[in-house]
Amino acid sequence: MDSILVIGNGLLYGQIPIAGAKNACLALMPATLLSDEPLTLTNAPRLSDIRTMTTLLQSLGAEVTALADGKVLALSSHAIDNHRADYDIVRKMRASILVLGPMLAREGHAVVSLPGGCAIGARPVDLHLRALEAMGAELDLRDGYVHAKAPAGGLKGGTIDFPIVSVGATENALMAATLARGTTVIKNAAREPEIVDLAQCLRRMGAQIDGDGTSEITVEGVDRLGGATHPVVTDRIELGTYMLAPAIAGGEVELLGGRIDLVGAFCEKLDAAGISVEETEAGLKVSRKNDRVQAVDVTTEPFPGFPTDLQAQMMALLCTAKGTSVLEEKIFENRFMHAPELMRMGARIDVQGGTASVSGVERLKGAPVMATDLRASVSLILAGLAAEGETLVNRVYHLDRGYERVEEKLSACGARIERIRVS
Ligand code: EPZ
Repeated sequence: MDSILVIGNGLLYGQIPIAGAKNACLALMPATLLSDEPLTLTNAPRLSDIRTMTTLLQSLGAEVTALADGKVLALSSHAIDNHRADYDIVRKMRASILVLGPMLAREGHAVVSLPGGCAIGARPVDLHLRALEAMGAELDLRDGYVHAKAPAGGLKGGTIDFPIVSVGATENALMAATLARGTTVIKNAAREPEIVDLAQCLRRMGAQIDGDGTSEITVEGVDRLGGATHPVVTDRIELGTYMLAPAIAGGEVELLGGRIDLVGAFCEKLDAAGISVEETEAGLKVSRKNDRVQAVDVTTEPFPGFPTDLQAQMMALLCTAKGTSVLEEKIFENRFMHAPELMRMGARIDVQGGTASVSGVERLKGAPVMATDLRASVSLILAGLAAEGETLVNRVYHLDRGYERVEEKLSACGARIERIRVS
């Protein structure tokens, strides 16, 4: 398991290219199962999660080829010869559940392992299942798998009213509805940019979808979908993560490909903290207005609210803010595992259930820390950029799931950061 060593090294200057969105790509790739024609995804990120999804789709009989050094994915599902998504793959990556809806819609049956929980929470999939049942699916849960069957004539359009907003359940329902007979209405749908990106790709394949990006999506089922070529949308979480590098360390960094519409609520909080964000021809330029940022309160919400996937990274910034910040995590039940690790670096954080109060200190001190999940890992790296001395982040396999070559991107802006290969 590799570790990453970060040495606080002063101001950062330079440019960081932002890749395609992991969470968009993990929904776009299963869309290939809806059609027997080729689907080509460009601007794809090169991440271990993408490789895991590739392995899963190949296990079902799909062809997935990485071209252009992994930035282009050529997918084709003209011969699905296995309808079972095995636990050994699904347990590694929860997004595997996204093969259920498309496989059921096109093939009429599917057996998909329940994903199980993960570090940040129980992460049930009951809403995914409820959505498919609303389209006529018969679901039988046994031996840790969902055994799903569509009615004889295939899935039929229905009304799905989600009691809470779920990104993944919206994506499963959206993909299944494209081939269901009749009209499907998805109420209280997720509004994330990744949903809009998936809908745009499905429309390119011939789907009839309206309302994506709002909380009510309407889909008119069609008999079949064709192929398409689609660019994966910019990764707003990678963007927000790297915007925090100059915010924490000082200096000025331009995020290439950054779009302000993807990070609206996040930028409002950066502005309140005293961080300047300027739109440029090439993306977003970020710098810190003063020596220390101001404390701000943050509550995570579904898009367009403050994203839960940037909560850990924002906490790293607020550890050295002037004043006390209160962070409320309203999406997942256990997403403060970075707090004890930041406290090893001298942060003053009081966690009570879903609320963390952070009393800013002048400067953190480097220490050996442990990554527990993807976003917690990168928040520890961000904290190390401005800490006094060395910070050794262990278990960085979490990091490689969602960040391409993080040490290269940050060292190109002057950070002292290197990967240490541990046996
Ligand atoms: C997606 O996960 C993202 N993953 C997550 O990013 C992100 O944190 C999350 O959306 C929220 O934005 C991918 O897109 C691959 P949800 P997802 O369904 O779809 C509960 C990262 O770091 N829920 O919107 O699994 C659930 O427990 C990852 O990149 C149910 O109760 O999230 C959570 O409390 C982490 N039943 C809330 O809804 C269900 O059937 C929101 O989850 C589904 C979800």
